[in-house]
Amino acid sequence: MSGINVPLLDLRAQYASIRDEIRTAVDEVLESQYFILGPKVEELERAVAAYTGARFAVGVSSGTDALLASLMALDVGPGDEAVTTPFTFFSTAGAVSRLGARPVFVDIDPASFNMNPARLEKALTPKTKAVIPVHLFGQCADMDPILEVCRRRGVPVVEDAAQSIGADYKGRRAGAMGALGIFSFFPSKNLGAFGDGGMVVTSDAGLAERVRMLRTHGEHQRYFHREVGGNFRLDALQAAVLLVKLGHLDDWSAGRLRNARYYSGKLEESGLTAEGLITTPTMLYEKGGGRNHHIFNQYTLRVRKRDGLKAFLQERGVMTAVYYPVPLHLQECYKDLGYKKGDFPESEKAAGEVLSLPVYPELMDGQRDFVVAAITEFYKAR
Ligand SMILES: Cc1ncc(COP(=O)(O)O)c(C=O)c1O
Repeated sequence: MSGINVPLLDLRAQYASIRDEIRTAVDEVLESQYFILGPKVEELERAVAAYTGARFAVGVSSGTDALLASLMALDVGPGDEAVTTPFTFFSTAGAVSRLGARPVFVDIDPASFNMNPARLEKALTPKTKAVIPVHLFGQCADMDPILEVCRRRGVPVVEDAAQSIGADYKGRRAGAMGALGIFSFFPSKNLGAFGDGGMVVTSDAGLAERVRMLRTHGEHQRYFHREVGGNFRLDALQAAVLLVKLGHLDDWSAGRLRNARYYSGKLEESGLTAEGLITTPTMLYEKGGGRNHHIFNQYTLRVRKRDGLKAFLQERGVMTAVYYPVPLHLQECYKDLGYKKGDFPESEKAAGEVLSLPVYPELMDGQRDFVVAAITEFYKAR
């Protein structure tokens, strides 16, 4: 078997399918010479609010800045704590630290890789100012019990939906369930810009206004600063690109879901799952609705001999990725938090086992089959 390359993501294929629409949209911005915030960003904000079911959306410079601005709007600061999981991209916790607050971790549910709601309450203290469930890989955390604990304890929820725009949880969309939700438009996301971008959504008019102010240095009126914010603005060119792509998002996510189902079916047929060599992703919320419950920003297996398999696939031309090899409580920069190995066993176990396969919607049948055959070959040879 040789001659088939399977990249982790093929953004050139995506671009080729929408080139004319994108060029028209970008030209419009170029002709307007209106580059920062403005009508295109407002149009995108209205579209994302409508898409998610939140009342308001505020375009910002990245998913990280969306987290930062959301936590600032909740007055998170020195002496405060915010609870999240250690099995996520760094910025979920990094945003907390940058405000002088302390990230507090709770372990994940091994089936979903998301916050284990049963462990949340014990992590809450009088200092907890926010809980940040992460909808990792494209599937929502189990929000009902999380929202219930937080409501009872009076703690606002910020959903880190950076990887999960459009994912459905029991009839509600990722981002629109907590006090605030954030999205990332990093190019590799299901809805990816041509650079950095992000969005905060909320149905609370006061919080929306606060985030809007924070994104332009806390201005409530030109050159009148009510508080110290930042430059968290979204560019009009990115908004124009994102508006075009938003129109295709559900189709693309459905394509990812098709590929995910195909992989899971074939890997189960291969016997590798029965032998315990591979565990396919669990889809938790598939009942009813007709919406995408898992948008598969990543198709993430648990595998035995992970590093050997990864190297073998790379030799065969199949690119894969490990999201994430080191849980946050064991990161060098978080030594001072006082956590140690063994504190979050499920996150640590996941970090040693996960491997994400190419699942982008333009993937061809031959490529998918090649990936499955290469995985099978690796285990059969051992
Ligand atoms: C779970 C999660 N949170 C936050 C972010 C931060 O988003 P950005 O890269 O747009 O700053 C990302 C993106 O990589 C992410 O995956």
